[in-house]
Amino acid sequence: MDLKVFLLAVLAISASAEKYELMVADEEVFHSCPDPEPGTLDIFGLADLSELSTTMDADGVTLTGNATLRWDVQPEDRIEMSAKLLYMDRGTWTPTVFSLLSKDFCKVMYDKNQLWYKYWTGHIINDVKNCINVAGTKYIHEKYVLSLTATAMGPVTEGRYKANIVFRAYDSSGDLRPTRICVEVQGDLSKVRRSKPFH
Ligand SMILES: *[C@@H]1O[C@H](CO)[C@@H](O)[C@H](O)[C@H]1NC(C)=O
Repeated sequence: MDLKVFLLAVLAISASAEKYELMVADEEVFHSCPDPEPGTLDIFGLADLSELSTTMDADGVTLTGNATLRWDVQPEDRIEMSAKLLYMDRGTWTPTVFSLLSKDFCKVMYDKNQLWYKYWTGHIINDVKNCINVAGTKYIHEKYVLSLTATAMGPVTEGRYKANIVFRAYDSSGDLRPTRICVEVQGDLSKVRRSKPFH
């Protein structure tokens, strides 16, 4: 393919791509998981959030303040993170094809290319590089709006989604720790409407 054809192809693709925005749906942000298995803790099992505040206005949910870790696992533990996205379809949470598994979350917790960097770790402003398995660590967050934009090539259904996120810890002999963290975050996905200068 010569350069001109290639450029035309790129242009055609970018014209069909749609931009979407996912906004966190409610001030509470972190919900506990339905039907948790024994040993499952919610967000308060992970961290003390008494210095964290979230407020909701027309722009969405704004987060600011501190979270202090208190999950009773060890800094040497391997942390596995798994997340799946569900869609609210006529009153029923329905699985989607989107899921995420990080076998060694601590290695990539501050990696700029990860989804959670945009949503969370990129907004930690004190110079800590501790993983979530170091109890006592305090994360200080700048003030930011919990929203994420992404470009999709195909059609995506707008509406209410939730991410179900689970952290598991394995000790140095590979045994699963008795407690795990499970949280859910709900958000609304909508197409970003380009403002039109003329009607
Ligand atoms: C967050 O922690 C810092 C440092 O310990 C403290 O100065 C600040 O007051 C805390 N923020 C809130 C909202 O409590």
